[in-house]
Amino acid sequence: GKGIAVFTSGGDSQGMNAAVRACVRMGIYLGCKVYFIREGYQGMVDGGDNIVEANWASVSSIIHRGGTVIGSARCTDFRQREGRLKAAQNLIKKGITNLVIIGGDGSLTGANLFRQEWSSLLDELLSTSRITADEKKKNGVLHIVGMVGSIDNDFCGTDMTIGTDSALHRIIEAIDAIVSTAYSHQRTFIMEVMGRHCGYLAIVAALASEADYIFIPEDPVEVNWPDALCDKLQQERNAGQRLNIIIVAEGAIDREGKPITAEDVKKVVVDKLQQDTRITVLGHVQRGGNPSAFDRVLGCRMGAEATLALMEATETSVPCVVSLDGNQAVRVPLMECVEKTKAVAQAMADKNWELAVKLRGRS
Ligand code: F6P
Repeated sequence: GKGIAVFTSGGDSQGMNAAVRACVRMGIYLGCKVYFIREGYQGMVDGGDNIVEANWASVSSIIHRGGTVIGSARCTDFRQREGRLKAAQNLIKKGITNLVIIGGDGSLTGANLFRQEWSSLLDELLSTSRITADEKKKNGVLHIVGMVGSIDNDFCGTDMTIGTDSALHRIIEAIDAIVSTAYSHQRTFIMEVMGRHCGYLAIVAALASEADYIFIPEDPVEVNWPDALCDKLQQERNAGQRLNIIIVAEGAIDREGKPITAEDVKKVVVDKLQQDTRITVLGHVQRGGNPSAFDRVLGCRMGAEATLALMEATETSVPCVVSLDGNQAVRVPLMECVEKTKAVAQAMADKNWELAVKLRGRS
């Protein structure tokens, strides 16, 4: 059978284990030899015990666990050609020419470059006698398929990334806890949530928790935001509300691109309204803990589809990423999604907020 390897790369997220499990079991079911690569690209470069064959039982009892049981890393070696040569050699020695990558857009881009470079890597490995002519012939084409594991939901081309739903559960639980203490003391709380350059977690958490104000990167507030914020908070208090909740995405900025931090917001609220104000930074709590039912099922469906996509890949087929479209796991061209995700970043760098919001929307 075909040699398939699955690995997780970049920041972890809840539901990655479900995806790994589904890949492995679908692969075994279809008669493949399936391997784990531990510690992401670093394990691929280092080889040895990092690349191990998986069996049906080795993915038992992981579906409920947060993080990624096979480890993840941000790898600099793989950025160098020598690192990629070592990685290719390690894969070829095990007959692996099919890769499942679970990671963010950077990890997926890296895999695509690796695939494009594959035959030149093989040429160099052969000319330096690190592989045989027979090995080169048997492993001539590398197939890849991606899945996006990230709590940020920052990837264009999928409705949801693996981990976002669990992170939202964690955020909502934390805000509910904060609301009860805020109510008692008539306080204002500023909650900082994750999301790097994406405001999805902040927006959905705000809607679901009845927050009064949010600050996000893609649709920044006007530079006179302190007045608008205070008017809104005061209005809510005048209407009888005993507390205020403000959500600040970690990448929040104003229209001129200047960062807005939880501290900045607190200063405004205290100076202008003299409200008793506290800050809570949720941090990595959002990325930890058990995956929600949604993320487990999402990981299962995407993982199974990823293995099927590899089985059907041909020399000329375009590499895909498995995405969620409504309620369906579908295959979409990997690099189209990566390019669109990069276009959002560019639009934000150009302060073209309208375009950033439009591109972020469902395609
Ligand atoms: O991409 C996931 C994420 O949690 C972001 O929301 C956050 O900006 C970043 O990773 C934090 O990175 P690290 O775990 O390396 O501190």
